[in-house]
Amino acid sequence: MPFDKTSILQDMTSQAGLIHFDNAGASQMPRCVLETQIDHLQLEAAIGGYQSEAQRADAIEAVYDSVASLINCHRDEVAIVENATVGWMTIPFKQGDRILTAEAEYASNYLAYLQIAREKGVIIDTIPSTPDGEVCVDSLREMIDDRVRLISITHVPTNGGLVNPVHEIGAVAHQHGIFYIVDACQSAGQIHLDVETIQCDVLTATARKYLRGPRGAGFLYVSRRVLQTMHPPMIDLFSAIWTDADHYELRPDARRFENWESNYAAKLGFGRAIDYALDIGIANIEAEVTRLAHKLRNRLCEIAGVSVRDIGKRRCGIVTFSVDGQDSYEFADRLIASNINVSVTSPSSTLLDATRRKLPNLVRSSVHYFNQDSEIETFVSAVERLSQPD
Ligand SMILES: Cc1ncc(COP(=O)(O)O)c(C=O)c1O
Repeated sequence: MPFDKTSILQDMTSQAGLIHFDNAGASQMPRCVLETQIDHLQLEAAIGGYQSEAQRADAIEAVYDSVASLINCHRDEVAIVENATVGWMTIPFKQGDRILTAEAEYASNYLAYLQIAREKGVIIDTIPSTPDGEVCVDSLREMIDDRVRLISITHVPTNGGLVNPVHEIGAVAHQHGIFYIVDACQSAGQIHLDVETIQCDVLTATARKYLRGPRGAGFLYVSRRVLQTMHPPMIDLFSAIWTDADHYELRPDARRFENWESNYAAKLGFGRAIDYALDIGIANIEAEVTRLAHKLRNRLCEIAGVSVRDIGKRRCGIVTFSVDGQDSYEFADRLIASNINVSVTSPSSTLLDATRRKLPNLVRSSVHYFNQDSEIETFVSAVERLSQPD
């Protein structure tokens, strides 16, 4: 292993005996991320919110550099927002424009497309998947016409280990000059992201998942190529300057998507979490996450009555499964009662994919690089025990 897991484990503050396999829901923060936030909250309490913001101005600015290093962009292309969904912004659509998206698209994104469809008369078309499960790039090419205004793809869906081919999709978008958005909420922190090679115009990510940051923080990347054409859905005196009684000017940088009020403790904690991941190395993280998830899938497949539901040629740290005759919510509750954190992904969070594959509620176990082989064995034994009829 190219990093020292012992020191990684020493950086954890989790409850003794707890197995955290819910890193796709919200992961566990390293101690330094927790301390960064507590430290700032204490400063706010001691000297005042505005005063501590001024005192920590350099560190706050450095968060934008951290995001820029993580995804290879310029700091002025980054907005720190309260979650990734808030980053969804208006593109100037017109009636009849088409949005092309993936079958395993996340509900919040699809809901935004539905809202745009209702307001602007835009058409939503789903790109078929390959037999392996990822977005079929050949089908995408065939679907391109003059009306395609946006290609919007979830890199790693919420309901399984699938990794969509965002680079190949980006090459098609670039060739045809089509606006391209990548939802990297589930991939940021477990898969290397480079917006230059992905060739996306916008990329969104959240702090709390594989980046191991705090809740209530995320970032939005908006490329310089498109920034000036994009108007935030809501503005205030931070995102724009009130120039005269009838006019305002938007900020020139991506922070036009931010608002005046912000949780600075969370922002600083987010920056620390990104630096922590970069210190370990995203390639090292990805290798370990992939190894552990592969092992977990194989071990679960050996259990009678357990069906692993992951698809895709390339798979990441999310492992979903169902158990014959068992309700996934009850099953997850029983795992949690055994000190093993998992979550449940319901059909409504990826409705098209779930309908096509006739998926029930699924137990979602998602591993991170700090998880251990011994935890997989404990987890598998628990699933074995709980899946037996009483
Ligand atoms: C694929 C995907 N996109 C977006 C989100 C939403 O992120 P946020 O809650 O930060 O808006 C999630 C959360 O589960 C997700 O799985």
